[in-house]
Amino acid sequence: MEQNAAISSKDNICAEGKVESKDILRILESHNKDRGGLISILEEIQSEYGYLPEEALRIVSERTGRSLVDIYGVATFYRFFSLQAKGKHLICACLGTACHVRGAPRIVAELEQQLTIKAGQTTPDKEFTLETVNCLGACALGPVVVIDGHYFSKVRKSKVKQLLEQAGEGFDKFDIGKDERIFPIEVSCPHCNHSFKDKTFAIDGYPCLKINVATDHQQGWIRLSCLYGSYSVSTEFEIPEGMVVNFICPHCNSEIHSTSDCSQCGAPMIPMLVDGGGIVSICTRRGCKNHMLDLV
Ligand code: FES
Repeated sequence: MEQNAAISSKDNICAEGKVESKDILRILESHNKDRGGLISILEEIQSEYGYLPEEALRIVSERTGRSLVDIYGVATFYRFFSLQAKGKHLICACLGTACHVRGAPRIVAELEQQLTIKAGQTTPDKEFTLETVNCLGACALGPVVVIDGHYFSKVRKSKVKQLLEQAGEGFDKFDIGKDERIFPIEVSCPHCNHSFKDKTFAIDGYPCLKINVATDHQQGWIRLSCLYGSYSVSTEFEIPEGMVVNFICPHCNSEIHSTSDCSQCGAPMIPMLVDGGGIVSICTRRGCKNHMLDLV
């Protein structure tokens, strides 16, 4: 059965949700208690509250028998997790070297001025959180800013105000084909170099990418948006949030092997060739949005 599973670009569901122990217990019951299970548990708690409330972590500690220190160790190791409630809209500006030399500090300063907060802070009305990172994986396109999961490349200072206004209104109201926030890429198998493009099915208005995926029990296709920065996907069978899957080329049947681990959740990252030169790597864990674009 086809399952349309567009992943929301807005994770900050509940900035100040009250922690109900029954909700945490429900999450715990649905997961194993090994290390991989702990990451999945924390992911689900974060998806429920928008961050990891201390009270929830205490319940996890009591029920799993793992020390609070151990749990905080996992929660602080991966950038994906947040221990603080965030605003409704999350802005992440890159201050890595490539973006820095292209003017990223001016963009961050403009964001701070427009929002009247400093990087790392949330506006008093809990609308916006501004964060900075050292690389967003699209260095050739800097300065890069990600707002609510939408990638904006080559951001100019004069554009910042408009981006914030659009974020407030919701980017879904704007035609994604008419701005530079995301861009299509064509990718192919690192083994046989055959393109993954599927012209028969469009996602985000563009022909999608179709690859096979396998879990311990099932195998089928996954269709991904070809727009870098979009997380829209469609899968042939249900893949639960947090599950790690194997990617297999539908043309040569080779498994695409990992070349690195995800810096956000620890799952394997797999590389694919970008048409025109370069590599895009994506995390194999369902729900993790980490991907890196390395253009040459
Ligand atoms: S340095 Fe900004 S995306 Fe890599």
